[in-house]
Amino acid sequence: MYRSHNCGELSAANINQEVTLAGWVQKTRNKGFLIWVDLRDRYGITQLIFDESRTDKTVFELAATLGREFVIQVKGTVIERESKNPAMPTGDIEILVSGLTVLNTALTPPFTIEDDTDGGEDIRMKYRYLDIRRNPVKNSLLFRHKVAMEVRNYLSAQGFIEIETPVLIKSTPEGARDFVVPSRMNEGQFYALPQSPQTFKQLLMVGGMDKYFQIVKCFRDEDLRADRQPEFTQIDCEMAFVEQEHILNTFEGLASHLLKELKGVETGPFPRMTYDEAMRRYGNDKPDIRFGMEFGELNEVAQHKDFAVFNNSELVVGIAVPGGASYTRKQIDELIEWVKRPQVGASGMVYAKYEADGSLKSSVDKFYDQADLLKWAEITGAKPGDLILVLSGDAHKTRTRLSVLRMELATRLGLRNPEEFAPLWVLDFPLLEWDEESGRFHAMHHPFTSPKPEDIALLETNPAAVRANAYDLVLNGNEIGGGSIRIHDKATQQLMFKYLGFTDEQAKAQFGFLMDAFQYGAPPHGGLAFGFDRLVAILGGQETIRDFIAFPKNNSGRDVMIDAPSAIDHAQLDELHIKLK
Ligand code: AMO
Repeated sequence: MYRSHNCGELSAANINQEVTLAGWVQKTRNKGFLIWVDLRDRYGITQLIFDESRTDKTVFELAATLGREFVIQVKGTVIERESKNPAMPTGDIEILVSGLTVLNTALTPPFTIEDDTDGGEDIRMKYRYLDIRRNPVKNSLLFRHKVAMEVRNYLSAQGFIEIETPVLIKSTPEGARDFVVPSRMNEGQFYALPQSPQTFKQLLMVGGMDKYFQIVKCFRDEDLRADRQPEFTQIDCEMAFVEQEHILNTFEGLASHLLKELKGVETGPFPRMTYDEAMRRYGNDKPDIRFGMEFGELNEVAQHKDFAVFNNSELVVGIAVPGGASYTRKQIDELIEWVKRPQVGASGMVYAKYEADGSLKSSVDKFYDQADLLKWAEITGAKPGDLILVLSGDAHKTRTRLSVLRMELATRLGLRNPEEFAPLWVLDFPLLEWDEESGRFHAMHHPFTSPKPEDIALLETNPAAVRANAYDLVLNGNEIGGGSIRIHDKATQQLMFKYLGFTDEQAKAQFGFLMDAFQYGAPPHGGLAFGFDRLVAILGGQETIRDFIAFPKNNSGRDVMIDAPSAIDHAQLDELHIKLK
């Protein structure tokens, strides 16, 4: 038996008990005649004491040789500590050690295994197994497990069953590039790793499974960001015989349950907003509604003067920055430079200070008088003491730029409290979006999403205006889930592929299996998928998903610990019928 207890469970109630513990040496303190060792495992830390006058000589001498991260087993008696540590669950006791076995030695770790480590990102990724010993990473993984268990229990109780779908599949277009796997047995042919199990879960509905879920790995070869990994996990769900309302209620139930069980937060019904409204009010289809700073459209009150920049713009739009009237000229200039960076892309920014005395002072006083500026204040919701910032230009781009600024200012002003949770549904997404690069429409969600029946006629005349039965779940400014009601008949699916620029042959070659299935009694169905890593990270109070994944990839898509991707040898390439240039 390696241990009778773990390192987190002994307390004053165990005093005088003989125990055996095993774990890692967190740190040692050697006073010459007394040696203390902090012994750590997943469950906590227990203090060991070796006392020259009470501990066997060989044991005492061995204790003096222990280094950080040695793996040891000790036998001893639980005794009351002289100086107690109320901050530690085991802080009332220590173990007077009688026996010590070194189970394994350890090299000095390349960074400190402490909550605040001295290790940079790269070194921690290379030695991820050491990083996982640190509380912040360990606790994130424990939390992830807890969320997964809650999800499984909740959905099972609602009648959903977890079904695995294949990983070696044919490409499903979800907008990103596929990772592909060459087939040895089928020369020149490739599997694709699923970007999501989309078509399979629809086929499970045709198969009569009714309510499906799966906590599943998905793979997308896309540019990485803090909230994106090339392989990530979804809580993928699908239901048959449902309308949008039913799906929203079901998964609002799941999200509310998680918020309540894991964070103790009762949210009440989630607000709902159409895509158009989200874009108009926040310039963003995943608005962070924990704070205000809503957009005020100023065309009507700003386009009647001689200010050509505004007059020539499709949209003039502003926000009020709380307390911003006190910003110095230098601070405002810095903000203007900030929005002019290529990452944001504005050509300039107009501002108006709403002074505490009620007067307004703007960078365009030449064109606008107090009465004009008061209207700006009214529309943007600015109060005395605030700063109004205004961008103008092409409507979509200007909204997006102002949204980036809004989020930046909110971060700087500390308005994005990670312990506050503001979920909302964004509904009625456009079915199609124009892609400049390929010069054609793409499905905004995916090609299996059904248009709103009342908009189908618009497909011929104004495709961009067609709305989809598609929805996203947004939490604190992050898209944590998305889904749609699906097309479930062959004719509509064929029509959809036509509008997406597929020839009949291409559609048949890629998705014949799905359209065939639709001919054998496909029930109406729909679903959604949560981004599990994102959900866990946000519930855990963070927006970077990396620390909630045991072995994540870095920003270049590399696993620096195992050094992947890597070259393979010629024999393997030959077997796969691959010739490198
Ligand atoms: P979608 O593409 O919106 O929908 O993906 C669902 C959710 O997955 C998360 N997500 C990611 N998380 C981490 N890294 C990534 N690279 C990444 N990409 C997406 C997001 C997103 O909301 N099959 C559809 C779902 C459906 O229609 O039912 C789908 O995959 O949180």
